[in-house]
Amino acid sequence: MYQKTIYFLFFRNLCLVFGLFPEKIQTMKNELSNIPFLGVGLGFRSVFKSDLFLEPQSLDFLEITLDHYLDAPPSKWRELEILKQSFTLIPHGLNLSLGTAQGLDPKYLDQVARLIEFVDPPYWSEHIAITKAGGIEIGHLSPSVFSTEALEVFVRNIETAKRQISYPLVLENITYLFELPNSNLSETQFLTQILEQTDCGLLLDITNLYTNAYNHRFDYRQFLSQIPLERIIQLHFAGGFEASNGVLIDSHSQNTPQEIWDVMEYVLSVCQPKGIILERDENIPPFAEIKQEIKKAKRLFGLY
Ligand SMILES: [Fe+2]
Repeated sequence: MYQKTIYFLFFRNLCLVFGLFPEKIQTMKNELSNIPFLGVGLGFRSVFKSDLFLEPQSLDFLEITLDHYLDAPPSKWRELEILKQSFTLIPHGLNLSLGTAQGLDPKYLDQVARLIEFVDPPYWSEHIAITKAGGIEIGHLSPSVFSTEALEVFVRNIETAKRQISYPLVLENITYLFELPNSNLSETQFLTQILEQTDCGLLLDITNLYTNAYNHRFDYRQFLSQIPLERIIQLHFAGGFEASNGVLIDSHSQNTPQEIWDVMEYVLSVCQPKGIILERDENIPPFAEIKQEIKKAKRLFGLY
């Protein structure tokens, strides 16, 4: 670690001496390879607060939804300060809308940057999604067309975000209920191109992957064989439900079903993420059940 710091300082000084652009230094800070191993954790929700402080050893790190803090009063930021003392925190964004053709909202981006600086995490994450279009807030994560034009929009917006936020960015796959027309790329081509052109990591939501594979009748193993597995930094897992029309919905409202554990086992046999996060937003069970799921993920991750 000490040696790495010396190399970095040496390289940085060399850049300054020869007048190289500060963006080069930024690229070094964005490197995914420096992200430490994190283990298995939980998406933080206020409802878990007291259990987490009673049993902090039950998990390894927390993911916080950064949108919950952007316009929040100082007491909420104080909560972050307290959480930071016990856990590594990974900020997870909902509303940057990386697929918006009009570009990113600069005020929102400023707020996100401020919060990430405050948290000082190993990396931060956002979705490959659209939440704003033509000045309208859509109110949920909408999928993109898998087209060359949409790819250019994502790459441009991600580069804008990376210029302002020097922490590594990790992007999450989302679900889609139907395939949008006018795509000229496959989902795996689209995903791969975004990751490689922007040098971002992948937050592979295995429940989203399984949900899409089930709803659109494809093999998730084949999907995984077509994406850069070495870019997978983190996993999400959760339980959803099957609607009456047979469509799977990723609702984060149920315990993790066996099918998702099977996907996790397979994914962990083909890649080496740094961390795994359980997401639970509705129908919150007793904390003992949450701990059981984290324990099971730890076992599959080979942590004991
Ligand atoms: Fe997720």
